[in-house]
Amino acid sequence: MPYPATRLRRMRRDAFSRALMRETTLLPSDLIMVAFVIDGEDKREPIASMPGVDRVSIDQLEKLAGECVAAGIPALALFPSPPASVKTEDGREAWNPDNVFQRAARALKAKFPELGLIGDVALDPYTTHGQDGVIDERGYILNDVTIEALVKMTLAQAAAGFDIVAPSDMMDGRVGAMRAALEKAGYVNTRILAYSAKYASGFYGPFRDAVGSAGNLGKGDKHTYQMDVGNSDEALREIELDLAEGADAVMIKPGMPYLDIVQRVKQRFGAPTFVYQVSGEYAMLKAAAQNGWLNEKAVVLESLTSIKRAGADAILTYFALDAARYLKERSQP
Ligand code: PBG
Repeated sequence: MPYPATRLRRMRRDAFSRALMRETTLLPSDLIMVAFVIDGEDKREPIASMPGVDRVSIDQLEKLAGECVAAGIPALALFPSPPASVKTEDGREAWNPDNVFQRAARALKAKFPELGLIGDVALDPYTTHGQDGVIDERGYILNDVTIEALVKMTLAQAAAGFDIVAPSDMMDGRVGAMRAALEKAGYVNTRILAYSAKYASGFYGPFRDAVGSAGNLGKGDKHTYQMDVGNSDEALREIELDLAEGADAVMIKPGMPYLDIVQRVKQRFGAPTFVYQVSGEYAMLKAAAQNGWLNEKAVVLESLTSIKRAGADAILTYFALDAARYLKERSQP
């Protein structure tokens, strides 16, 4: 019914009616905090391209985990930032049962058993060339050889106590191989969060600084395994395969530039759909906020709400703790 019978501004007039008709409400329980762990004690190393995010030693990580629990954030996604001295061509430190990553998981699960812990399964922090897999003499990333390494990583992480293993490498067939290995070893409840639709994105730059793979990767790129920015149907094929291979949840990455993909994936499959608001998205918002060009609280909550509205069930974000704090402030009179 046209104007004046219909005046959409009527429902927007007051906070009470805006609240009642709001379709999407962001909650701390939608968020997954992301953190980088390093060796040592009482250590915090700032990451220049991610102001406000530090690489932290296990004791500091425990503090951060405690803050997540207190804020109602259900899970923490952990990434390693190993020193150059442990990096090799094949990345074998990745499945060392006593590496910093595995030790961090044991410490966190002992102190905060209720906090879901997500382990990254990919070789890039551990390789001298910064690629996510094993390379041949021409630098091509070998699919099936890489899967063998990812399976070893998976089992080491499950043994260390990670609740969820999250392959971020984009090799074909790795979810099926990981699932089979987990079942065989008795880890029937270790979940797989598959980075299914992961694009070859420029927005990962700060992350590569954080895990120390940027310099090693140099002029290299990841276009032979990560998805082309122009594609959408291919994302559906990736998701379908990962679900068929046994993924418990799927992920789209990056976030805000790919909301069309999020919506298609959620509508088509109805599976648990996670979205990663990546390091470059964090850096953009943070840098603008630090310059006084954007209001940080407003744009953080807006970006995360948009991702949820598009269809995300959960969002990995470096802003998780900040966002939980902003939500709490907003709910108080
Ligand atoms: C690599 C990996 C990347 C991210 C998560 N895992 C970067 C890449 O593919 O080069 C990016 C996360 C971010 O940018 O926040 N396995």
